[in-house]
Amino acid sequence: MPEFDAVFVGLTILDIAGRPVESIPEGGGVDFIEEIRMNPAGTASGAVMNASKMGIKCATVACVGNDEKGDFIVDTYNRMGIDCSMVQRSGTMATSATMLPIRPNGERPALHARGASDDLFVADDEFDAVCNARFLHHGGTGLLDAMDKRQSARLLAHAKQKGLTTTFDLIAPNENTLKLLQDSLPNVDYFMPSMEEAEYLASTGDGKPPSTPSDLASFFMDMGAGACIFKWGEKGSFIKTADTEFRVPAFEISVSDTTGCGDSYCGGFIAGLAMGYELDEACKLGTATSGLVATALGSDAGVVDLETTRQFINNATILD
Ligand SMILES: Nc1ncnc2c1ncn2[C@@H]1O[C@H](COP(=O)(O)OP(=O)(O)OP(=O)(O)O)[C@@H](O)[C@H]1O
Ligand SMILES: [Mg+2]
Repeated sequence: MPEFDAVFVGLTILDIAGRPVESIPEGGGVDFIEEIRMNPAGTASGAVMNASKMGIKCATVACVGNDEKGDFIVDTYNRMGIDCSMVQRSGTMATSATMLPIRPNGERPALHARGASDDLFVADDEFDAVCNARFLHHGGTGLLDAMDKRQSARLLAHAKQKGLTTTFDLIAPNENTLKLLQDSLPNVDYFMPSMEEAEYLASTGDGKPPSTPSDLASFFMDMGAGACIFKWGEKGSFIKTADTEFRVPAFEISVSDTTGCGDSYCGGFIAGLAMGYELDEACKLGTATSGLVATALGSDAGVVDLETTRQFINNATILD
């Protein structure tokens, strides 16, 4: 048996969020807000923390700086029971970090300082150790400078060859991202961007962009993805596999901060699959996890454990 249920590779950031922020004070002025919170975040981090809360055995492969931000992330993970033996420390870069002035409606404009995540590099001789799991999640293509030069695609190919189920999310796509995906998608079982990101990516291709979610999913499946799960904000998510397509509606929640919703969806979904849930039930667990994350400040706030998340699923109203 592999050592871990799931390994999460990729973007790991320190988020410092405050809410509610309507505007930055004039000059050097001070405004008072209700709360400020600091937590690990990012495409890999928001996924691993929430998957771990669901009770599956997780490890992460991340690169943080040799600094207080990196120490905080590793301490937090250790307390959550996430294996940090594959966490790297950059010799030259500070931990990637983001300041988030959260608007009263939960929107999160971000001020990001790139850092050690750009230094993350998983060498070929580390692939076997990283793939000592049933699931491999790769998150953060677009903000992983060293991995984005085709090494992510090589790692995913290795994972598939070893029989892992692979899931993939990205961030901040630009006009070059679609080219990177050509290498990666043939070894991705579940491609999990947001609907907005999927639409943008398809629009950077040569042909006429697809106009329906189904055609959009086919676009990426034609590039090699096994299935697509497009996270769709308050519309929930759209899923297409070779056999079926459906939408999973979101749950009604009182929105506080939507930071990390997409990342936590991936964590809940992977935990569901790892526990043997059917596809639609795993998506529902992802949806509930992300809905709960939106109710509090930070990428893992609002989520306690599997039992309370299941209670939320049973009691919440579906947004249709
Ligand atoms: N307003 C909302 N009400 C209920 N659920 C929501 C809301 N916003 C987001 N969600 C849930 O969170 C999931 C992910 O959100 P979203 O589609 O915004 O992902 P994303 O853009 O990838 O987010 P991120 O920037 O965190 O990566 C949705 O699929 C949905 O289940
Ligand atoms: Mg996202």
